Amino acid sequence: MTQSALIQGGAGGLGRALVNRILQSNQFDQVFVTARDIQRIDSTDSRVIPVALDLLSDQSIGEASVVVASHSDKLHLVVTTAGILQDDSLGLKPEKKLSDLTRSNLERVFSVNCFGPFLWYAALGRLIRHREPITVATLSARVASIGDNRLGGWHSYRASKTAQNMLTKNLSLELSRTNPQATVVGLHPGTVDTDLSKPFQSGVSPNKLFTAEQSAGYLWDVLNGLTAERTGQVIAWDGQTITP
Ligand SMILES: NC(=O)c1ccc[n+]([C@@H]2O[C@H](COP(=O)([O-])OP(=O)(O)OC[C@H]3O[C@@H](n4cnc5c(N)ncnc54)[C@H](OP(=O)(O)O)[C@@H]3O)[C@@H](O)[C@H]2O)c1
Repeated sequence: MTQSALIQGGAGGLGRALVNRILQSNQFDQVFVTARDIQRIDSTDSRVIPVALDLLSDQSIGEASVVVASHSDKLHLVVTTAGILQDDSLGLKPEKKLSDLTRSNLERVFSVNCFGPFLWYAALGRLIRHREPITVATLSARVASIGDNRLGGWHSYRASKTAQNMLTKNLSLELSRTNPQATVVGLHPGTVDTDLSKPFQSGVSPNKLFTAEQSAGYLWDVLNGLTAERTGQVIAWDGQTITP
C-alpha cells in the first residue's frame, strides 16, 4: 500500500526541516511538498513531488488539489505550516493594543493562518476522507490558548490561531464519524529560529530558542506517538496538550 505525505509550506523554516525529517523516516513512498514558489523547494529526493500552492487563492488551492489527486488517491500524513505574524511589505505588525487593529491586517492574517489551511483540507476531499490511518496536523501556537493568555496583544495572530484550533476540533469530529483511525491535531513547535520569529527573539533565552531541525525532530516524535484518542487537541513540541 503506497504511503503518501503532504507538507504544505515546505520551503519555509519549519516546513523545510519537517520535509527532511519525514524523508529520513523512510515511512512514505511519496512526499508532496508545496510552496508558493516551487523553485524554493530544495530537496532533490526522488520521492518529493513539488506542488505550487498559494493559500490566499481559491484557484491555486483548486489546481494544487487536482495535481495531488493525479498522483495519489489517499494521503496518510498532511502537515500544514502556513503562518504569518508580520509582513513589512504590507506594513503588517503584531498589534500591541486594540487601536492598532486594521481590517486589512486582520483579514490577511486570518486568511493565511486559518481560512487557507481549512479551505485546503476541504479541497483535498477524498484524499483525506478515507478509512485508512491518517494524521492531519496544522501548525498552531501556544499564544492561541485563551486559558494561557496572560499578556494580551498580537490580536490578529492569536485570534487567527484560536479560530484555527476550533476548525481543527471540528474537522477531528467530522472525520472520526467515518474513520476512527483519523487523527486531526494542532501543533505548537516551541519558539523556533525562523524568519517568522526573527524580529521577536530578543527576550527569548538561548536554551528556549530551537533550531528548525530541533523542533522538526520533536514534532516528528509527537506525530509518530499520536493515537486517535488525541484527535482534536493542540499538542506542544514536548507532547503536552495545550489548554484551549
Ligand atoms: N517560529 C516560531 O517560533 C513559531 C512559534 C509558534 C508557531 N509557529 C508556527 O509555525 C508555522 C511555521 O512557521 P515558521 O516559523 O516556519 O515561519 P516561516 O519560515 O516564516 O514560514 C512560514 C510559512 O508560511 C507560508 N505561507 C505564508 N503565506 C502563505 C500563503 N499565502 N500561502 C501558502 N503558504 C504561505 C510560507 O510559504 P512560502 O515558503 O511559500 O512563503 C512558509 O512556508 C507557522 O504557522 C507559525 O505560525 C512558529
